[in-house]
Amino acid sequence: MSNISGDETPGQKATKILLVEDSFANRDMLTRRLTRRGFTVCSAADGATGVAMSVSELPDLILMDVALGEMDGWQATRLIKADARTQGIPIIALTAHALASDREHSIEVGCADFDTKPVDLSRLLGKIEGSLARAAQTADSNHRDSDALQEHLKGVKSMSKLDPVAALTGSVRDFRELQGTDLMARVGSFYEWQELRRQSSLWPYSRATQEAPLSVCTALDDNGQQFTGLNFGTQDYLALSSHPAIKEVAKAVIDEYGVHSAGSSALAGNTKYSLVLEQTISDFLQLEHTTLYPTGWAAGYGVIKALVRPTDHIVMDGLAHACLQEGAYSATSNVHLHGHLNLESVRRHLRRVRAKDTTNGILVVTESLFSMDSDTPDLRTLQSLCDEYDATLLVDVAHDLGAMGPGGRGFIGGQDMLGKVDIVMGSFSKTFASNGGFVASNSPAVKQYLKYYGCTATFSNALSPVQAATVTKAFDIIKSEEGLRLRTVLRQRIEEMREALTQAGLQHTGNPSPIVPVRVGDEALARLVSRRLPALEVIANLVEYPAVAKGDARLRLQMMPTHSLENVRMLASRLRTAIDHAQIEHVRHRAAITGVTRSVATDTAAAQAA
Ligand SMILES: Cc1ncc(COP(=O)(O)O)c(C=O)c1O
Repeated sequence: MSNISGDETPGQKATKILLVEDSFANRDMLTRRLTRRGFTVCSAADGATGVAMSVSELPDLILMDVALGEMDGWQATRLIKADARTQGIPIIALTAHALASDREHSIEVGCADFDTKPVDLSRLLGKIEGSLARAAQTADSNHRDSDALQEHLKGVKSMSKLDPVAALTGSVRDFRELQGTDLMARVGSFYEWQELRRQSSLWPYSRATQEAPLSVCTALDDNGQQFTGLNFGTQDYLALSSHPAIKEVAKAVIDEYGVHSAGSSALAGNTKYSLVLEQTISDFLQLEHTTLYPTGWAAGYGVIKALVRPTDHIVMDGLAHACLQEGAYSATSNVHLHGHLNLESVRRHLRRVRAKDTTNGILVVTESLFSMDSDTPDLRTLQSLCDEYDATLLVDVAHDLGAMGPGGRGFIGGQDMLGKVDIVMGSFSKTFASNGGFVASNSPAVKQYLKYYGCTATFSNALSPVQAATVTKAFDIIKSEEGLRLRTVLRQRIEEMREALTQAGLQHTGNPSPIVPVRVGDEALARLVSRRLPALEVIANLVEYPAVAKGDARLRLQMMPTHSLENVRMLASRLRTAIDHAQIEHVRHRAAITGVTRSVATDTAAAQAA
């Protein structure tokens, strides 16, 4: 933390300031002036959001406007100071008048300092510096208390099995490492936690649609409750899964062929439809050879496992999909994660690996559209880095192929890299109306090797004839005028959605794509937001740690051209309502957690004294 000049030296992060200010003009002006001085500034427009962001952002310092409407800055400061996670963050109160009562008030609620608006920047910088220095001095002694608090929190978690507050804490990561001899019994702790969340309507996963996943859809939640809502939770980016021509093809192939491939592609599981599909994909990507897999996951895992040996190396984007990560770690322990989209980091890893090892292979692994962040690497530079360091590039195009780019060729087409990426891997499950995946390259040897050494193709039944014919039909539509029209409408809806979210004051990240991540931050807050959605008739997926970083929970909206502009506007307004209400609820729950923790701490102290 805390380089007051704002200058970053290697390994040192710029000081992060959370600015809580309801005037857009003041917020904008202060943000620009502080950013110019090298600070990282995030901001909130109201007290409740400020409190929530103090937890999700964990800033080094907070600038708190005190006149904030419903929850004023004094109240917000009190809540931040009452929370074990945020109580050490120095807060400078910003008031409109230099009144003695304001000064007293700020001291009373626990502010580190006090300033009046409009601020004199050099005076404010001095106050920031002084507050940070004092906070650093007390951090050491607080450290021990904070450790004790964490211990108590653990206790609270295990004690309060039926307390809904406990359903707001923890993550699936907590149950990954299991101990005990009984393999079946030891997963019970996960079930208990999941059940607690489910009973509190805080488990928004594993829903079952009760009809086709259209833009309005009825679903059954994991608690057996049925609800109907605007559907922004389906990965069907061109809405082809219910397209009449696709359904017609599927029905005809069932009549002709039945429903099953009845064999792996290494044996007799290929069909006349899978052969056509292989050729279709090769032509579409301008790569000569394609291998099909029963799922996209199988393709990602299988291609890495087939090609990489334990002495080889993998340089992979830290946010790569689970199928790529699992494939990588099962193939070799030489996995080097590089900074997300960071080409310098890729180059550093390649240089280091090649300096030590000139005899083994290196696979560089990335995605053309990252599904949690909606962003894209520079594929041309990645490929030339691979060429320079004698490495091979693998790009997963699951989320953009078909739905974006010229002729539906995704970012590979958009970056003029068709036919120029070493290995392209994809899934049919987002845009091509079916389960299934593929790997394409210019090498006939790679195609054959994958068939016999890519465990997930070799020892798994091939795509069914219905799936292969369906995907081929989807490619036909994607290449046609209709495909262009669908992508144009999709793109328009995506832009309208981002605009509507901005108008509603909601934070969305990444670049325009069928994925629109709406940032919430704190996991507990995000769970409370998500709980409100069914009542507001909205279906949207919650993404929380460990799928994304801790404190960076979000709702991932997935767009279709069948969404109307009205759907989009309603969704933005309902999300705003859900977040506003959940923020108030969140503050209450956080106070409850702190309250329980406090009483445990007092009991323990009393017991020790006795
Ligand atoms: C980037 C990426 N790759 C691969 C997959 C796996 O695809 P499938 O769902 O077809 O198994 C997914 C799907 O979640 C994905 O998002």
